[in-house]
Amino acid sequence: MSIREANVNDIAGIARIHKGRFPRQFVGRLPRSLIAKFYASQLARSILLVHVGKSGVDGFVHGGLSSLMAAGRKEFFLTNMGRCFWSMAIRPPLCWSAVKSLTGWRFRNRQSREAPPDCWLRCLAVDRAVEGTGIGAVLVEAFEYAIRVTHAREYGLSVNKSNRRAIQFYEKMGFEVERETEKSFCYRKRLVREASK
Ligand SMILES: CC(C)(COP(=O)(O)OP(=O)(O)OC[C@H]1O[C@@H](n2cnc3c(N)ncnc32)[C@H](O)[C@@H]1OP(=O)(O)O)[C@@H](O)C(=O)NCCC(=O)NCCS
Repeated sequence: MSIREANVNDIAGIARIHKGRFPRQFVGRLPRSLIAKFYASQLARSILLVHVGKSGVDGFVHGGLSSLMAAGRKEFFLTNMGRCFWSMAIRPPLCWSAVKSLTGWRFRNRQSREAPPDCWLRCLAVDRAVEGTGIGAVLVEAFEYAIRVTHAREYGLSVNKSNRRAIQFYEKMGFEVERETEKSFCYRKRLVREASK
C-alpha cells in the first residue's frame, strides 16, 4: 500500500471514487467519463495523489494553486461545454453549483481581513470500504508535504456544513474553522508558524 502522484492510469479510479463519494455535488453528478476528463485536465496543473491499496486506487487528494487549478477547469469546461450544459439543463439546481465548481468561485472573506490562501485542498475522498482505516489522514499528510515543496506556507479548504464526518475528521486532524458561510465551514491551516516577536 502506498501513496504516489496520480498518472493517467489512475484517473478512472479517481472518477469512480469521486462519483461515489460526492453524488450531490456538480462534478459528482456528471457522468463518470466526464469526471475522468475533469481530473485529466488537472493532472499537470495540480497536486493529485492517490492511495493504492490491495484492490487498486482506494483514495485520493486533489489541490494546489488556485490559479493553476482554475486554468485546468477552464480548459475542461471549454472542451466539454456541450456535455456540461446538458448536465446542467436536465438538473437546473446544478447551475449555481456548476458556476462555483467550474470557476473556482469562493465566498469573499468578510470575517477576516486576510486574503484567501493561494493554495487549496479541493477534494479528499476514500472508498467507503476502507473508511476509518487511516488513509484520509495519510493523504492529508502527503498533500502537505507536496505543497511544502512548492514553498506554500498555508492552505485552505472548505467543507459543507452537512458533512459531519469530514468536519469531525478535519477537526481531529487539527484544522480550525477560520470563518463560515451559510453552507460551509472554511478552514485555513498554516504550515509555517510565524516567528514569535
Ligand atoms: C473524510 C474522509 C476523507 C476521512 O477519511 P478516513 O480515511 O475515513 O479518515 P481516517 O481513517 O484517516 O481518520 C483520521 C482520524 O479522523 C478520525 N475520524 C474519522 N472519521 C471520524 C468520525 N466520523 N468521527 C470522529 N472521528 C473521525 C479518525 O478516528 C482518525 O483519528 P485516529 O487515527 O486518532 O483514530 C472520508 O470519510 C471520506 O472520503 N468521506 C467522503 C468524502 C468527503 O466528505 N471528503 C471531505 C470533503 S473534501
